[in-house]
Order: sequence, then C-alpha cells, then structure tokens
Amino acid sequence: MKILVIGSGAREHALLWKLAQSPKTEDLYVAPGNAGTGAIAHNLNISPTDIEALAQSVEQYHIDLTVVGPEASLAEGIVNLFHHRGFNIFGPTREATKIESSKVFARELMGKYHIPCASGKVFSSLVPAREYVEQHSLPVVVKADGLAAGKGSIVAQTRGEALEALSDIMERRIFGSAGDKVIIEECLEGKEVSLLAFTDGETVIPMVPVCDYKRALDGDQGLNTGGMGSYSPPLFFGPVDIAEVQHTILEPTMRAMSQEGKPFKGILYAGLMLTSQGIRVLEFNARFGDPETQVILPRLKTDLVDILLAVVEEKLAEVKIEWSDNACVGVVLASEGYPGSYKTGFPIRGWDSLEPEVLAFHAGTKVNEAGEACTAGGRVLTVAGSGKTLAKARAKVYRNIPHLSFEGCHYRHDIAAV
Ligand code: AMP
Ligand code: GLY
Repeated sequence: MKILVIGSGAREHALLWKLAQSPKTEDLYVAPGNAGTGAIAHNLNISPTDIEALAQSVEQYHIDLTVVGPEASLAEGIVNLFHHRGFNIFGPTREATKIESSKVFARELMGKYHIPCASGKVFSSLVPAREYVEQHSLPVVVKADGLAAGKGSIVAQTRGEALEALSDIMERRIFGSAGDKVIIEECLEGKEVSLLAFTDGETVIPMVPVCDYKRALDGDQGLNTGGMGSYSPPLFFGPVDIAEVQHTILEPTMRAMSQEGKPFKGILYAGLMLTSQGIRVLEFNARFGDPETQVILPRLKTDLVDILLAVVEEKLAEVKIEWSDNACVGVVLASEGYPGSYKTGFPIRGWDSLEPEVLAFHAGTKVNEAGEACTAGGRVLTVAGSGKTLAKARAKVYRNIPHLSFEGCHYRHDIAAV
C-alpha cells in the first residue's frame, strides 16, 4: 500500500515510523513532513489545510490510504472531500470533528447524553459572561469555543484573570471567530490522564492511557505549550479505570454522535480528570494527540495498517489490538524562547551517539544546504524510549538527551518523574 500521512510534527513522524514496520506498506508519503520524515517517506510540500492539493496528490501518487494528523485538516473537511472522491482516509468528517472543533457542541452533547463533565454555562456575548464571572466562585475556567491550538482554556485563579480572559477572547478576539462563544466552567481538581480510542462508529477499542505535560517549565510552571512530554502508562490509572471510561464515556459518546447524525470514525481522544466525585471529561479531540502518540505507538504490538484499515472498512470488531507491557517516556526538546518567539536554523548534532533503541521523532526540523538536520520550529524533537518500568524508560531517555545538541535547546527534566 501507498500511504499518505498529513502533518509535520513528531506525532506524524511517529505514525510514519510505525506504518513503515507493516509488511503491507510499500511506500510512504507525508505532507508536508520534516527532516526526520524525509528519511523514511517522500515529503510533499503541501499545507495540511490545502485539502484540494492533497486530493490531487492522492491521484498523482496512487495513494491507497491517507492518515490525518492535525485537527485543522479535519475541520477543513478533508475527510468529506476524500469520501466524495472515493479515496480511503482515516479520520472523522467535518461534522464529527465538531466534538473537538466546538467545545460548545461537545458540552451540549455531554449534557444531553449524560456523559460526565464539569458543570458550566455557554455565553455568546461579553456582558452576561462578565456578570456570571462576578458571581461565580473561584477558580473558574474560561474556554473559547473553537480551535485555538491548545491555548483556548484558561484556568483563572482570580476574578481579574477570568475577566481578562473574557476580554482577550471576546473583545480583543485573540482566537478570532473561535471566540464567538465562550464556556465558563467549574474548575475541577484531580489527576489528569488521556485515553485515546480507535473507533469505526460501532466498536470502540481504547489504547493504553497516557499523561502529557502542557506547561513549558519544570514543576508545571511557565506558559502553556503544545506539549513538552508524555508517558505511558500512568500507574494511577489501571484496567478497571479504562473499562469504566470505555463504558461511561467512550461508548456513550460514540453512540451519541451516531444518534446526532454525526457518526464518528477515527480516533476519539478523551482528556480526563480524576476528581474525588468521579471521572470527568475535560475535552475531546478527534485525532491522535501530540506528544501522546510518540509514547503510545512504541507500545503498540499490532500492525497499525491493519487497525487503520479496519476502522475505514468498519470492521474494527474483528481486530485484536495488543500492547507491550513496557513503559514509554517521551521528552520534547524545544527551541530557546518557545512557546514565545525563538530563532531557528541551528544544526542538530549527536545522532550517532544515541543508544540504538532510542527514538528521536522530528517536529520543527528541516535539512539545511549542508545536508544537516537543523531547527525549524518551536518544538524540535521528541526523544522517546521504552523500558520494563517507567523509571527505566525515563532513565534511558534522560541519559540520551545530552548526546543531542542544538543552540538554545531546552526541555523539561521532570517528565514521568512520578
Ligand atoms: P482543554 O483545552 O479543555 O483540554 O483544557 C486544557 C487544560 O486546561 C486541561 O488539560 C486542564 O489542565 C485544564 N482544564 C480544562 N478544563 C478544566 C476544568 N474544568 N477544571 C480544571 N482544569 C481544566
Ligand atoms: N496533547 C494534547 C493534544 O494533542 O491536543
């Protein structure tokens, strides 16, 4: 099979790395990819939201299956377009993607179908939202409705912060039309965990659970980022918890989407908080997570192509998905200044010194004129490693990171320090 992956991050590099292991894979393409993906796939210089150009490349290269990484392509309707053209594609339609692209839609769905989430209220104008904040107990969470690159949820400790967030979203419109509506939500407390699941609209099979780290600095300090690291499995979330989430959240959500006329096929990603009152949904995503995928896929024993095809063909019930007992830890190496402004173009060196089993998934990298991989983005690499225990996986990753070097490299030192 010829397979095309959409996206350019370490998530997509990890997908290609896993797809390359399948005997069914004949050739891999990625749009647009990065320096790392270029070593195992053909990089096509097409933006993930230029869905017409992507469809043309499917015809040009005789692609048999397309796998979508970023939510922007899904929200743009890539799956609808490809279905219309008769192409195989893994991911939900634009309508089903609303579970991620509209937090208001997700909240109303959860309310209607009794899926446990934080209590909250939706506002489409500033004045009543402000009044509500004035009366609400603190802390409180302010969320922009639409896609905001993971930055649309603000946990406000003070009324001033909450009012500021409302002004940012609804007055200064920092997220554009994604801020036409906001949700003001009770602030939950507890441990966070993500459970992603494959679903063909009928069958839901959870993956292994995973934790990610969103803040830039050690000890969950600093600004929110696209994700600075992840690990699997979290020891506080076992098989009983997974079964509970499957029965109380994943399956009811999948059924609810079908009942609403938006059958969901692809990855249903539940971001969860384990509160003293029970498990609550914080958010849904409609795709593989980043950097979650970089630690989930090294644990997957089953052929990924078989799973993706089973979803596309609605035969997921026939597939048995097996996971390694090994733990996996991934640490993101970022450019100095990220998530603020940063410089790029610095060569990345030390590849040959990595232990052979250590994985270095590329994100913001490109090949420079000298043929070397150099930095080209905020998040540069995810370094991932497996081990019999979390502690061993963690030790492996952290003893290898210093072998890699680029100017201004920074990373968190406390990923999986549990
Ligand atoms: P979201 O964009 O909804 O995934 O939220 C991003 C992050 O904000 C989550 O990972 C949580 O850390 C935090 N968060 C979101 N909703 C809540 C909530 N209701 N209570 C507490 N923290 C929240
Ligand atoms: N790591 C969270 C996400 O992929 O949205």
